[in-house]
Amino acid sequence: MDYNNVVLIGFMGTGKSTVGLALADKLGWRFVDADREIEQKEGRPIPQIFSEDGEEYFRSVESAVIAEIMQGRRQIISMGGGAVLAPVNREEMSRNGLVIALTASLQTIVQRVRTDQNRPLLQGNVEERVAALMEQRKNAYDFADIHINTDELPVQEIVDQIVEAAG
Ligand code: S3P
Repeated sequence: MDYNNVVLIGFMGTGKSTVGLALADKLGWRFVDADREIEQKEGRPIPQIFSEDGEEYFRSVESAVIAEIMQGRRQIISMGGGAVLAPVNREEMSRNGLVIALTASLQTIVQRVRTDQNRPLLQGNVEERVAALMEQRKNAYDFADIHINTDELPVQEIVDQIVEAAG
């Protein structure tokens, strides 16, 4: 593997953490979940950061955490779904990693996130929220080096595709 890091991006519910853990296991690299790093740095869970200080504050912490994480090597990094919104974050990711975008259909995503209480951006009618955010972000993941649809594929096959693509 010629790359310093493998960076997993994609909308909420596309399987970044699940695939990331399996990939880290296969390569013997460290798994880093950017959302967990944000929670550690802040000492509080993501919904609380949003409710107490708002999305803009969350995004500033997220950018700082990404800049820190991307200094590392031999890491499989799962990014939050909105981490790609800031151009500076996209540059950090591309500079120091192979960027893999995981995709999934609206139905798959709604099914995967429906019962989740930990995603502040999906409060209310989940299907409507997911559809609106997907529309807003429809080009945000385009900068990835590789795109993999996760609707039908078993986790291990996704992992194999990434390993093969990474060379
Ligand atoms: C967000 C996605 C979440 C988390 C936060 C905001 C987003 O991460 O970072 O709730 O803006 O899409 P996951 O994609 O891991 O759920």
